[in-house]
Amino acid sequence: MSMTINELETPVPLVDLDRLARNLDRAAAYAMEHDLALRPHIKTHKSPRIASEQLRRGAVGLTCATPFEAEVMSDVCDNLLVAYPPVGQPRATRLAAISERVKLTVALDSPQAVDDIAAAAREADRPIGVYVELDLGMHRVGVPRLDDAIALARAVREHAPLEFAGLAFYPGHVREPVDRQEESLASLGQAISHAIETFDRAGCRAPVVSGGSTPTLWRTHELPGVTEFRPGTYVYNDRTTAAIGACAWDDCAFTVLATVVSTAVPGQAVVDAGSKALGREPMRGTDAADGFGALLDRPDVVVKSMSEEHGILDLSRSDWRPAVGDRVRIVPNHVCIVVHLNDTIVGVRGDAVETTWPVTARGRGYAADLIMSS
Ligand SMILES: Cc1ncc(COP(=O)(O)O)c(C=O)c1O
Repeated sequence: MSMTINELETPVPLVDLDRLARNLDRAAAYAMEHDLALRPHIKTHKSPRIASEQLRRGAVGLTCATPFEAEVMSDVCDNLLVAYPPVGQPRATRLAAISERVKLTVALDSPQAVDDIAAAAREADRPIGVYVELDLGMHRVGVPRLDDAIALARAVREHAPLEFAGLAFYPGHVREPVDRQEESLASLGQAISHAIETFDRAGCRAPVVSGGSTPTLWRTHELPGVTEFRPGTYVYNDRTTAAIGACAWDDCAFTVLATVVSTAVPGQAVVDAGSKALGREPMRGTDAADGFGALLDRPDVVVKSMSEEHGILDLSRSDWRPAVGDRVRIVPNHVCIVVHLNDTIVGVRGDAVETTWPVTARGRGYAADLIMSS
């Protein structure tokens, strides 16, 4: 018996399967065209099923942020990058255990992280690859000075079974609309070239240079020397990605289906998707947009404010006047946060419900019994 989305209880996260496939195909084709290794970041979908789709289309491996993400993905992939500093014995030990099953690489920016992951790798008696993370403008993590970064690469080489595997950076500071990234990409490109040359001269050739994001996805080939890119958001896209032109509005595959539960206050309608369904993420990279999400079919109607279970739709820019009980599909500002608020995603084609899948790698995966017995 086929079911339609009208029969689903709301709020519920939907993924348009045709759009998802299109987004996956497009990035895979881009990687192929420009001879770039695609290592997608799975923090957006946290799903082995979608990861498998990415690998089937030619992804060289996957990127994760947390040990739990890497544990879950080790079921479907034998080549994982944890692009997060492996600091602290509990985290390093958990990561090293994964290296017993898969080829593991970590990105780090401190001697402490080298010590922690080296001790865990020795204990597990497994090689672990290391990317030295550079700060090329985002100012979050990454070594700002190249001589410090080279010293770190040398320290990695002195800590067998660690292996210096390359350089990593995350261009999270490039958030301008895609057609206005000229300047940022030019200075980023110069910084990358300079880093590669300086590492070469120091006798530390970087086998891999790993960067990439969704805002810069389609211009990655303009960054000289980058061999690998790690976009995550592109699988589903979101309101921010569309606003900066890194996807079209029709490429937004993920929506939250919600029901209008009140129109009692004039000028607005209230839906059953509040901050616990949509997250509370601001738009970034554009001054032109407000609110916490917009309707898929009427992008001029935005969620102007929220309580935990109430989303307030601003009707002031629209003639549309919904009735209580009407249903809407909301494109969130930042999809990664919304996915991780849910246990299950519903895959749809048109209005037909076709499948569901779990957000398997959500949460931390701390086993309560293990914590209490330690
Ligand atoms: C280290 C790292 N690499 C890659 C990504 C993926 O970038 P995006 O979400 O823009 O696709 C992220 C996102 O947070 C990240 O932190």
